[in-house]
Order: sequence, then structure tokens, then C-alpha cells
Amino acid sequence: MNTFARRLEQVSVSATLKVAAEAERLRRAGFDVVDFSAGEPDFATPAHVKQAGKSAIDANFTRYTVAPGIPELRDAVCARYRQDYGIDIAQTEVLITVGGKQALFNTAMALYDPGDEVIVHAPCWPTIPEQVKLMGATPVVVNTKSEDSFAVRAEAMISAITPKTKAIILNSPSNPTGALIDEGTVAAIADAAAARGIWIVVDLCYEQLIYDPVAHNLPRVLFARHRDRTVLAGSASKGYAMTGWRCGWSVAPKELTAAFNMIQGQSTSNITSITQKAALAALKGPQDPVFDMLDEYRKRRDSIHGWLTAHPGFRCVKPGGAFYLFPDVSALLSEGGMRTSADFAQALLEREHVVVVPGEGFAAPGYIRISYATSMDRLREGATRMLRFVESLQRSGAGAAH
Ligand SMILES: Cc1ncc(COP(=O)(O)O)c(C=O)c1O
Repeated sequence: MNTFARRLEQVSVSATLKVAAEAERLRRAGFDVVDFSAGEPDFATPAHVKQAGKSAIDANFTRYTVAPGIPELRDAVCARYRQDYGIDIAQTEVLITVGGKQALFNTAMALYDPGDEVIVHAPCWPTIPEQVKLMGATPVVVNTKSEDSFAVRAEAMISAITPKTKAIILNSPSNPTGALIDEGTVAAIADAAAARGIWIVVDLCYEQLIYDPVAHNLPRVLFARHRDRTVLAGSASKGYAMTGWRCGWSVAPKELTAAFNMIQGQSTSNITSITQKAALAALKGPQDPVFDMLDEYRKRRDSIHGWLTAHPGFRCVKPGGAFYLFPDVSALLSEGGMRTSADFAQALLEREHVVVVPGEGFAAPGYIRISYATSMDRLREGATRMLRFVESLQRSGAGAAH
């Protein structure tokens, strides 16, 4: 029996790790593996951003900075949100974090107590409920469905509220579904939360990756209704192709930001000094690289969605954002053949050497996640193999009949 802290008993290890290990084993054995599991852009960090990082090193900007981040970077977040959303944020409401993940972690540390309930929607990025559990609080999961385009419905979220509800976490665009939450839904949830003093935490880490001109000004909707209990978590990772640099931020009321600062000051302190200069260039510099990447992701989304949905076994909503498809493969599962989406992903890996993440990892059995953050050639190759795989299943009678 180990003597580790009890809080670890509730928390699960990332489901993607098992798939990644198996894929690595096949790669090492010399197989041509098509990897659709990436949770990060395949693009290089924009040149001017890399240059800012290099210049920071050359200028010996390599010491500790203040824990909440250098003032000019906090100001740059304010300016970006002013420009993108038309909202006014003070520097004291912004904290620079080690990715959006730490912004969400600081939020969990500062807000959730044992016994609290935190409402989340699924399919979801596993870190969201796992961080709640790490604090000894309970995630209350509200499911969304592919038949309903994975729409988060205000009534469903509001009816999950109890006297123990401390916060509601929203993620838009969503990992893994790519779905966007509409402004009206957020307004209704915010009104219900405001009436009960419940916090709203919005994970906006994919906010720059939205494909169609839809209204998605969630910050403004929330600031108009519920500013004193709203936390926004943002990130340079996905939009600027900067996952390894580790830069995110929180936007929250200044008292809560001071609490985040205390937590961060006693844990990681400032994020890497060099990264702060690079992120400054990303936020303040030309935004064209973001739009170029977005255009390319859009082409890929349309292509892979078209190729796969040509087969009725892949029931798949066309996602509005992020870089994932989340097809429902339950029609391809059966009692006598592959019973779960985890079995499906495993067999696809073994027979066709295509890596996808099973929905089980996102609280959504019956689905698989396909990341299209990879080249068009690899997408074509992977789609061809996946279609061959489902056809062979149906010929052998392993999948359910159509
Ligand atoms: C939904 C979601 N939120 C937040 C993050 C955090 O990313 P980072 O810590 O790199 O900003 C991720 C990363 O995969 C994510 O998928």
C-alpha cells in the first residue's frame, strides 16, 4: 500500500498515453504510422515570434520575472481582448500562466473546495473534470450529443445546478468535438449563475480557431452580465502554434487574480522569461500567421470530413472550431465484434496503423477523436486506411449491419 496523498485516488491518468505508447512501439518496429492523435498544431511557431525568443536570450532576458508576468505582456493580453472582443480589462485582472492549463489549475485551486460541485459538459477535455477532482470537489457532467451537434443547452446546464454548485466550466471551441457554444446559451447560463452567485469559467484556448463567421463574443456576453464571477482562460498554444513555449493567461476579477498570483508565487512563479517575450510578439505583432493557419485547417477539416462521411459508418458533425473531428462510430460496434470505441481504436491501430483517440478518454464512449493538425497527404492516407478498415469490418460481419 502506498502512502501517497488521498487526493490522487480520484484522479485518472490520460487515456491518450496508452494509444501514444502503442503507436510509438509500431513506429519503432518500422511501420508507417498515420498519427491522428495530436493535440497540437503541426505548424512552426511564426518566424517573428521565434525571433523575439532568440533576441530575449541574446539580451540576457533570462532571469526571474515578477510572478504574474511582465507588465507589458499582461497589457498585451488586455489590448488583444479589447481589439478582439471590445472589452476593457485592467492589467490587475490578467495573470500569465504556464499554458491555459495552469490558468485552469489556479482557478481550481482558488475556487473549489471538497464537497463543492462543478458543472462541466461532455464530451470534454479530461483535464477539466480531473482538476476538479484533484481539489476534492465533484464534477457534475452534463452530456451533449452528436445528433444535437454537441450543442451545450442552457436548460440542461442550469438544471444540473444544486446548492453545492460552485462553478460552471464551459469550453468553446471544444476539445474534442470542435463545437462552439452560442452567445444566447452563455447569456442564459450567466443569468442563472449570477442569480445564485456561481462562478463561470470559460476555457477559450481554441478561441482563434473558429472557421465560420459566427458570433462568438463570449467574453462580452459574460462581462455584461456576470463580470465579478467570470474567469476566462486563454492560451498562446493553439492559435500561435506555441504549445512547447508554455504560455497562457487568466482574466478574472482583481481579487481572484491576486489569489492566483499567490498560488503561482508559491508553486511555479513566473513562466519562462524567454517565452514571455515571444508571447508578447505573438499578441502584439501581425496576426496574419494565425489566419493563414486557420485557412489551412479549414481546408483540412472540409477534406477529411468529406472523405470519412462518404461512408455511413462515420456519423460526424462538421465542427465549427479547434482541429478535431469527433465521429460517432457506435454503428460500427457490435456485441460479437468490436464492442467499444477503445476496441475500435486499438484494432485500427493494429491493422491499419492509424492512431486515433478513443472517446472513452473524453467521457464519450462510442466516439473517436481525429486530429487534423497534420498534413493533407497524411489526412488522405489515413482516411483511405480508415475507410478500408470499416469496409473490412463490415465484410467480415464484425461491425453492426447497415
Ligand atoms: C480544451 C483545452 N483547454 C486547454 C488546453 C491547454 O493547453 P495549454 O496548456 O497548452 O494552453 C488544452 C490543451 O490541449 C485543451 O485542449
